[in-house]
Amino acid sequence: MRRNHLAVITALAGLGTAHAQEAGQVNVICSVQAEWCNMIQTVFAKTTGVKVNMSLKGSGEALAQLIAEKANPKTDVWFGGTGDPHLQAAEQGLSLEYKSPSLTQLHAWAQQQAAQSAYRTVGIYSGPLGFGYNPELLAKKKLQVPKTWSDLLKPEYKGEIQVANPASSGTAYTMVATLVQLMGEDKAFEYMKALHKNISQYTRSGTGPIKAVARGETSVSISFVHDGPGEKMQGFPVETLTPAEGTGAEIGSMSIIKGARNLEAAKKFYEWALSPAAQEMGAAAKQFQLPSHKAAKVDPRVPDFKKIKFINYDYAKYGASAERRRLIAKWEKDVNSLPK
Ligand code: G6P
Repeated sequence: MRRNHLAVITALAGLGTAHAQEAGQVNVICSVQAEWCNMIQTVFAKTTGVKVNMSLKGSGEALAQLIAEKANPKTDVWFGGTGDPHLQAAEQGLSLEYKSPSLTQLHAWAQQQAAQSAYRTVGIYSGPLGFGYNPELLAKKKLQVPKTWSDLLKPEYKGEIQVANPASSGTAYTMVATLVQLMGEDKAFEYMKALHKNISQYTRSGTGPIKAVARGETSVSISFVHDGPGEKMQGFPVETLTPAEGTGAEIGSMSIIKGARNLEAAKKFYEWALSPAAQEMGAAAKQFQLPSHKAAKVDPRVPDFKKIKFINYDYAKYGASAERRRLIAKWEKDVNSLPK
């Protein structure tokens, strides 16, 4: 009896392996938050039979890994994260040229991201940069809600503000590039040096600061505003706004890696990820970026772009390798090394 039972299990296990081998697997670096990554992993595997090996990494860290494994790529698809490092990956020959048949069904900004990378990346979502704040903590400390970039420099916010480190986080690099475009480079660096005095911590991950705000560990964060509602839905006191002077937005992107070992599965994943149903999973996982497919439903919690004052973010310039590297090195040397 026991022998038979074992035989059945062995046979089933064998079948399972054969099925997995047939449908294949795909290695994905995922640069959005864990809940969305996990949902993608489960649903894609269930719908297609393709196993997804998922690793979670911030945008800057993902790029560093792809550079490190260039000679022997272990990644097939890089899903999500800010667009600038995806453009840098394209320029450095790390990603594969691929034109999706559904490209024309995407918003113009997502198609433009593809065109300016010579079709080595594509926009999958967009979202504005702004501030997160904890109204309860601010009230307790008798502090006003900061409404402008210049408000953040007020001495009363000393030790009250968090933002991520631009080397590891695409969110923080979006801030550096936004300020440079808004103020001009010299003024932007003077601004960041002054802001440094009020920063309690530069986190590794872009979402670290708004999570700290939500949990009452710090009053204010510089964050993507679409990361606010998810925290609020968990019952935390957190609000967001975009600064009055103007702000930038990310074009969250996706790339197939050059030399991908599982190319067919990678293309299957890529096409699936561009479909409206897959894009709507962002909101289902409490992440409220604007989806790039025109037919994807837009959740009411997605920030209303028409109400926000945007700079004309130059994605090609700030996604260029030399420029991104130069600005991050300059931030490290001129800002991060200063005493507080
Ligand atoms: C969050 C946001 C995404 C963004 C990502 C960047 O997940 O919801 O829209 O692309 O952060 O992460 P990073 O750690 O690179 O700043």
